[in-house]
Amino acid sequence: MKVLVIGGGGREHALCWKLHHSDSVSEVICAPGNPGIAKHARCIPVGAEDIEGLMQVARDEHVRLVVVGPEVALVKGLGNQLRAEGFAVYGPDAEAAKLEGSKSFSKALMDEANVPTAAFETHSDPDKAEALIRQWGAPIVIKASGLAAGKGVIVAQSVDEAIEAARDMLSGNRFGDAGSQVVIEEFLSGEEASCLFLVSGDTILPLASSQDHKALLDGDLGPNTGGMGAYSPAPCVTAAIEKEVLETVARPIIAALKAHGAEFIGTLYAGIMLTDDGIKTLEFNVRFGDPECQPLMLRLKSDLGEVLLAAAEKRLQGMELEWDSRKALCVAVVSKGYPASFKKGQVISGLDAVEASGSMVFHAGTAEKDGQIVNAGGRVLGITALADSVREAQHQVYQSLQHLDWKDGFYRKDIGYRAVQREER
Ligand code: AMP
Ligand code: GLY
Repeated sequence: MKVLVIGGGGREHALCWKLHHSDSVSEVICAPGNPGIAKHARCIPVGAEDIEGLMQVARDEHVRLVVVGPEVALVKGLGNQLRAEGFAVYGPDAEAAKLEGSKSFSKALMDEANVPTAAFETHSDPDKAEALIRQWGAPIVIKASGLAAGKGVIVAQSVDEAIEAARDMLSGNRFGDAGSQVVIEEFLSGEEASCLFLVSGDTILPLASSQDHKALLDGDLGPNTGGMGAYSPAPCVTAAIEKEVLETVARPIIAALKAHGAEFIGTLYAGIMLTDDGIKTLEFNVRFGDPECQPLMLRLKSDLGEVLLAAAEKRLQGMELEWDSRKALCVAVVSKGYPASFKKGQVISGLDAVEASGSMVFHAGTAEKDGQIVNAGGRVLGITALADSVREAQHQVYQSLQHLDWKDGFYRKDIGYRAVQREER
C-alpha cells in the first residue's frame, strides 16, 4: 500500500524509515519531509499545517493510509476532512485532538474521568490568576492552555515569577491566542515517563515505555524544550505501573472522550509523573512523542504499516506489538541558542561518519543547500542507537557524535543518566 506521512521532523523520519521497511508498504510519501526522510520516502513540498494542500496530496496520490505526525493539523481538523473523503487515517479528529490542543479542556476531562493529575484552576482574568498564585505560593506551574510547541509551561520557583508568567501569557504577548487561558497547577515532584498507546476506538494497545529529557541542560536544568533526548524502555515504568497507567489513565480518558462523542484513533501520549502519592498525569498528547518515537521505532519489530492501518480501520483488537528486548537511546542535537533564537543555514558535516560508526541519524530541522546539509530549525538531528543496556546505547551514541562536524551544534552529555544509575544499582 501507499502511505502518506505528514510532518518533517525527527519523529516523522523515524516513522518513514520504519514504514519503508514494512512488508505491507509499497511506497512512502512524506509532506513536507526533510533531507533525511528523502532517503526512505518521496518528499512533497507541502507544509504540515497546510490542510488544503495536504488534502490535495492525498487525493492526487491515491494513498491508502495517512499517518499524521504533528499535532497542529490534527487540532485543525485534518483527520475529519480526510475521513470525510474516505481515507484511512492514523491520527484523531479535531474533537479528540482537543485533549492536546486545550489544556483547560484536557484538565477538566481528567477531573471528570477521575484520572489522577495535579490540582489546578483555569483562569483568563490576570487579577484572579494572581490571587490564586499568591494563595497557593511557589513553586507553582503556569501553563498556556493552547498549543505552544512544548514551550508553554513555566515551572515557577517564586510567586513573582509565576505572576509575571501568567500576566505575560494572558496579555497575549507570549503565545498569542494559546495564552488567552492559563492553567495554574500544583507543583509535583518525581520521575517522569512517557506512556504511549495505539488507540482505535475501544482497543488500546500500550507501546513500550520511554522517557525523555525536556530540559535544555545537563542535570535536567534550564528551560523546557521540545525534548533533548529519549530512551526506551524506561526502567522506572514497571509492569505494575504500566498496567496502572492503562487502567487509571488511558482507559478512562478514552472512555470520557467517547462519552463526549469523540472517538479516538491514533497515538495517545500520557506524560506521567511518579510521585510519592502515586502516578499523576502531567499532560496528554495525541501523537507520537518527539524524540520518544525515534528509540521506539528502533525497537519495534512489528510491521508498522499493518498495525497503523488496522488502527485506522478499527481492526486493532487482538493484535500485538513485538519489541526488540534491547534498549534504544536518542540524543537530540540542536542549534546553539535554541529554544530561543538561533542562526540558520550553518553547514553540518560528518553525518556519513556518524552513521558508519553504528548509530542512526534521524533528521529534524535540516535542509539541503548547494548539496550540503544545513540547520533549518531548533532541533536538528536525533542520533539513535540500540544496545544491550542503556549505558551501552548511550556510549554508542556519544562515540558516534565525535564524528559530527558542526561547531554551533549543541547537545546534552547526560541523556539517559537516570536509567544508567538504575542499571548500575
Ligand atoms: P507538559 O507540557 O504539561 O507536560 O509540561 C512540560 C513539562 O513541565 C513536564 O514534562 C514537566 O517536566 C513540567 N511540569 C508540568 N506540569 C508540572 C507540575 N504540575 N509539576 C511539576 N512539573 C511539571
Ligand atoms: N517529547 C515530548 C513531546 O513530544 O511532547
